Amino acid sequence: MSHIRGRFQKDADKLVSGYTASIPFDWRLFKQDIAGSVAHARMLAKQGIISGSDAETIINGLESIRQEIEQGKFQFKTELEDIHINIEARLLEKVGEVGGKLHTARSRNDQVALDLRLFTKEAIADTITGLKELQKALISLAEDNKDVVMPGYTHLQPAQPVLLAHHLLAYFEMLQRDVERFGDCLKRVDVLPLGSGALAGVAYNVDRQFLARELGFSKISGNSIDAVSDRDFIIEYEAAASICMMHLSRLAEEIILWSSAEFDFVALDEAFATGSSIMPQKKNPDVAELARGKTGRVYGRLMALLATMKALPLAYNRDMQEDKEGLFDTVATLLSTLKVFSGMVKTLKIKAENTRRAVEGGYILATDLADYLVKKGEPFRSAHGIVARLVSYAIEKKKPFNKLDLDEYKRFSPLFGEDVYSISIKSSLAARDIFGGTAPKQVAPALANARKIIGGQK
Ligand code: ARG
Repeated sequence: MSHIRGRFQKDADKLVSGYTASIPFDWRLFKQDIAGSVAHARMLAKQGIISGSDAETIINGLESIRQEIEQGKFQFKTELEDIHINIEARLLEKVGEVGGKLHTARSRNDQVALDLRLFTKEAIADTITGLKELQKALISLAEDNKDVVMPGYTHLQPAQPVLLAHHLLAYFEMLQRDVERFGDCLKRVDVLPLGSGALAGVAYNVDRQFLARELGFSKISGNSIDAVSDRDFIIEYEAAASICMMHLSRLAEEIILWSSAEFDFVALDEAFATGSSIMPQKKNPDVAELARGKTGRVYGRLMALLATMKALPLAYNRDMQEDKEGLFDTVATLLSTLKVFSGMVKTLKIKAENTRRAVEGGYILATDLADYLVKKGEPFRSAHGIVARLVSYAIEKKKPFNKLDLDEYKRFSPLFGEDVYSISIKSSLAARDIFGGTAPKQVAPALANARKIIGGQK
């Protein structure tokens, strides 16, 4: 019988232990749990709560348990509920009664909060590393194609010409805000809950500052009830992950569109594409599609935890055990998506002739024609109307703007002159010479600045 069933005469029903156990998933917290216990044992000795030699025995026992787990020799037991009790029970087996001193001045409630905070801190560091890798891949792709033009879209209709580099840098900016969001979330994760005990604080002279230093936390929690009962730090990670996945999903959607035969703006590297079981000609963007699909899953995890937490009375409730699978899954999904995207973006081939052809077809320079009339004194609103009529006329005549002759232009406004023929894709880009705009003169420093932000390395 588990050593924590002290008051009971009976073992838990098998159905109950199966239903309530978290060990099938929280075994992943073993490193954090052991690190927390080692620091706790050291602190107990330093404060004279247990003897130095007892602490040493406990710490050695914990280290050997860590090795057993790492080598796959540890036997996790469902009837021991969770990672905390599994490790403690093994410690008792290994070092005898003295192992029972480890849980002095501690509860599973502050212990699990600690483990989760350690886990989330590590996850944030890995997430930021993954984000930076992808930012680097986007920058390299932009640098390698810095003169490539493409249609910029609104409503998925060609709107105005833009540099591909400018479009890619839009994603750089989104990911940069994600980096900042995770960094900001870290401030609230980086708080030591140990010392809160079950809920009221512990009745021993513990040194929380020492624990914070040992475990690398920059702050200690200010209220024991809050420290064991909130999971807002996980919700925050999941919210930042959801926003990040939303960004990745939009990029995924564009890669899917761009690699379609209809757009044909990019070619996926074969190593990042998949085939069809029936149609031999297919080269499918499954990586991008799955990222788009997994975004729904990450949102779901966020919603699930918000719903789990919303009506819980203070302090700890077992409902909160439901926080873990969602967190683990979110971290794994986001990290793998970031990794595979870096590879996919790095190896993406841009088909510059096709993006150029897409800009040249249609009437993408219509705004530039309106701006031309404005410079000659026409108010913008009426210039817009004149060019709109000119566009319908040109469509009817099946002519692009530059195939209309000057007389035809003049039918729509006397302000049109020879110089209307100098309006081109190049002039359109160059005209957007404003900080944040798509003019090559603006995009070059923006690209250099992006490179600087991620630390310069290729
Ligand atoms: N497995 C539990 C969880 O994940 C650990 C805390 C258990 N605390 C308790 N009082 N039953 O939340």
